[in-house]
Amino acid sequence: MSGPDRIESDGERKQVTVLFADVKGSMDLAEGQDPEQWREIMQGFFSILADDVHRFEGTVDKFTGDGIMAVFGAPIAHEDHARRACYAALKMLDDIAGYARELRRRHGLNFSARIGINSGEVIAGAIGAEGDGGYTAVGHTVGLAQRMEALAEPGKAYLTEAAAELAQGFLELEDLGEFEIKGASRPVRVFELADVGAARSRLDLSRERGFSSFVGREQEMETLVAGLDRARAGEGAAVGIVAEAGVGKSRLCHEFAERCRAEGIEVFEAQAQSHGRGIPFMPVLQMLRAYFGIADADPERIVREKVAGRALLLDPGLADDLPLLFDFLGVPDPARPLPQLSAEARQRALRGVVCKLVGAPQRREPAVLVVEDLHWIDEGSETLLGELLSAVEGTQTLVVVNFRPEYEPGWSGPPDYHELALQPLGPQDTQDLVRDLAGGDPSLDGLAEHLHERTSGNPFFIEEIVRELVEAGHLNGERGAYRLVRPVEEIGVPVTVQAVLAARIDRLEADAKQLVQAASVAGKEVSEETLTRIAGLSGDGRCEAALREAIAAGFLYEAELYPERVLAFRHPLTREVAYGSQLAEQRRTTHAATARATIELNPERHDELAALIADHMEEGGETLEAARWSARAAYWAGHSQPREAMRLWRRAMSLAGELEDGEEKAALEVTSRLRQLDYAWRLGMDASEEAELAREAEEIASRTGDLRSLALLRALSAGRPGRERRGEEWVAATEEVCRLADESGDHHLRVAIHAATTYAHICVGDFDGVERISREVVDLAGDDLDAGAGIIVGCPVAWAVMCTAMCSRERDELEAAAERFERALALAGDHGDPETASWTRGNLATLTAVRGDVEAGLATARRNRELTERLGDVFSRSLSLVSLATVQLAAGESAAALDALEEAEQLYRGAMGNGGEVGSWRAALRAEALCDLGRAGEALDLAEWAAGSARENGMLWPLPRALRALAEVRAARGRDGVAEALDEAAAVAGRTGSLLSLREVEMTRERLAAGAR
Ligand SMILES: Nc1ncnc2c1ncn2[C@@H]1O[C@H](COP(=O)(O)OP(=O)(O)OP(=O)(O)O)[C@@H](O)[C@H]1O
Ligand SMILES: [Mg+2]
Repeated sequence: MSGPDRIESDGERKQVTVLFADVKGSMDLAEGQDPEQWREIMQGFFSILADDVHRFEGTVDKFTGDGIMAVFGAPIAHEDHARRACYAALKMLDDIAGYARELRRRHGLNFSARIGINSGEVIAGAIGAEGDGGYTAVGHTVGLAQRMEALAEPGKAYLTEAAAELAQGFLELEDLGEFEIKGASRPVRVFELADVGAARSRLDLSRERGFSSFVGREQEMETLVAGLDRARAGEGAAVGIVAEAGVGKSRLCHEFAERCRAEGIEVFEAQAQSHGRGIPFMPVLQMLRAYFGIADADPERIVREKVAGRALLLDPGLADDLPLLFDFLGVPDPARPLPQLSAEARQRALRGVVCKLVGAPQRREPAVLVVEDLHWIDEGSETLLGELLSAVEGTQTLVVVNFRPEYEPGWSGPPDYHELALQPLGPQDTQDLVRDLAGGDPSLDGLAEHLHERTSGNPFFIEEIVRELVEAGHLNGERGAYRLVRPVEEIGVPVTVQAVLAARIDRLEADAKQLVQAASVAGKEVSEETLTRIAGLSGDGRCEAALREAIAAGFLYEAELYPERVLAFRHPLTREVAYGSQLAEQRRTTHAATARATIELNPERHDELAALIADHMEEGGETLEAARWSARAAYWAGHSQPREAMRLWRRAMSLAGELEDGEEKAALEVTSRLRQLDYAWRLGMDASEEAELAREAEEIASRTGDLRSLALLRALSAGRPGRERRGEEWVAATEEVCRLADESGDHHLRVAIHAATTYAHICVGDFDGVERISREVVDLAGDDLDAGAGIIVGCPVAWAVMCTAMCSRERDELEAAAERFERALALAGDHGDPETASWTRGNLATLTAVRGDVEAGLATARRNRELTERLGDVFSRSLSLVSLATVQLAAGESAAALDALEEAEQLYRGAMGNGGEVGSWRAALRAEALCDLGRAGEALDLAEWAAGSARENGMLWPLPRALRALAEVRAARGRDGVAEALDEAAAVAGRTGSLLSLREVEMTRERLAAGAR
């Protein structure tokens, strides 16, 4: 593709709160009014609304003729956008009521405002032809806010449930019930905004909901206690706690404050507010009210008495400062008015008073002062705090402040100042927290780990996600005693958490933000080179500078430095939010650019990265490329990771379906189906799905005259293992498949198919046939040991050699068999065929035991079991268990053998839906194990079934073993028919030429005869 790899974004998805306000009935009013005067009245109305929006840092999106639309949270995200909108609404209603009273008095006019508020996602950005329409927000969220306005009664503000959820607690809301709203698919719950609520901070809200039990933080607590001890010694001290939102600064302060109070130490608390920067000295006011013990309901006189009483007790010299304090606290004394002072002089005087209070000579008791959220502090309060901090030296006061990392203190603190970088919770603390919130039900196993990984241990995020899980119905029960009823993977980012993270991202400079967004598309990790190519930041050093900022601000970190620099997201949730904030088109472009960069930058690693490239191509809308890379990745997963390969083929198939007709589409459609069918006998597949795939593949291959695929299809459907059926039908099907393969003239296909058909011959006991076909395969392949590789089995030559080894074994040529197995194993190893290696090792283990070395056989079987587990396909895993059980029986470990066999049985039937061609083999071994364990009663039916089923289906390979088992069980139960079973076994072994079986039958006969004597 030519041109830049990334289009400049002209819009973003954002979580915001939208507010509509208008004047009720303005059109009727306008009629009797002089237009000029009317304009003036409306102007007054608009400026009140606009001022109130700006006061809470919202944006006036547009004037609507008789009102406004305002947005909170865009262009700059505020984590408390809904609260801001509500505060603005309350202020508007108040101010408009005042203005209306005035108009009624002056002009006899009656009007009132109404307000609608909604929160949710919007697309924010420039709009209109070539973006000249200015910045605005669009989306369903906007329309619903307008509907709320239309619904609201005069003088009221209505909220949707989405806005209410975010504002709950911080504001008092009245639930009006559900309303049918035009344009909304479901009824919407509507709330009326009543008043400011009791909660001031998020911690207040947590307290209201019931605190989670406090976990960890022992060391941090010690630091605070040590500070307090030094302060008590009269040195004065301060501690600053720094951490990202939600890590637990406020909670730590709260726990410490409670501890102090329990010891009788006075604690005064104050806090800067996110929307309070425009309201100077709010935290100072709060602090002084706390200090003088002023309650909201106190009448002015009482307030003055409290202030004077306490101040004078501390320092009689403060008498002259009382008018200033009274004035600041909003309770001026009419008898002693404050002399005229400039604002600056007044502030200076106020700072002096506060320092005097802290350093008062009469203060004999230690005190703790907590000031929270300095990142939101106003300038005046910050200056005051700076002086106060310097004044604590030599007093018994400890000042504890907290703030987020973006705050840079404008003060230096007292000499004894310690900064505490509060870390997120570790895995154990997270576990404890999750246990407290959700409980210890076994269904919750792994939930804490999942949450820790997703939230990086941020307790606020953990609490919110658990709440979301409850609300979305994943967790059932009640607090501290939930059960997980649905898996948690697909749960999104809670809106509360999203608000916090989006605000963090928006604080980045434009370049750094763009870089973080691009990185979020690339994945959890991205190499610096790739990032540079996809970030769209051309120009000298722009990308480097943006990267430095993204690292410094804690978004990305260097996960690796060598051989290349790799950047990773520090918090998974940040990545999700950064990803979600982009428009689909922008994400698509970046995905495609990431795919191309990955291809170009890693010429040696295309196979390994194919799945990743396919992902990006698909998300980037490049369907053909995505299908090609999925197929490549699937080939690469091969038979070592069958499940992954199956997933990738499924995807390649669905991608191919979206392509335009053509040769490549047809080829991909056929191959992806055939490959899935090749995994059907390994992993199991729903019968109807399998039939459908085969039907579709046949249809396409017939249409395109693709003989090769048709032959392979027959091999994979009619000739495949894993079915309960009659042996001769199976063999006949494989013979027809061989004919088709020969007709196709495709060398590799012939080798692959001929080799694969030996399995049917083995099962029916046609060892001569096996030997003959195997030799043909080896001859056909000639020097090309990779002939037919991967078409059905990984290395057909290795497989054929293994089959000849099995023939040697049946003929009781055990040494030759061992040599051949060893050779097959080496070939499979050299030619990357872990499956044939597994089957060969299993055979080798049983052979070793038959040859007398049971211990060595056990060791090989166990090792094989482990290696095969890793492969993950059901066919091989169940076979490895059967080999292990066979050796365990020989070793007398019957209980272990029974366990292995039961596991094999469940595994096989669970995936395949039937017992398969060697079901009788497993049943015979289980009967033997049960018999050995003295449970011959249970074994009888099993042995009968094993013999019956093998006999009926013509599976002559397992039949002698089944009959031997039957003879043993009958003997153990004192039943008739022991000799008959053994005679039949000998006859079958004779017919198939299995001298080994024949010998084993005679051994059984002797043993049973000896036992009977
Ligand atoms: N150690 C802890 N044990 C249990 N819960 C905790 C712990 N620390 C914090 N929490 C809980 O996590 C939530 C967030 O904590 P807190 O409000 O203290 O974060 P914060 O760092 O002050 O965030 P902000 O910067 O937004 O004010 C609260 O509900 C709090 O109760
Ligand atoms: Mg806090």
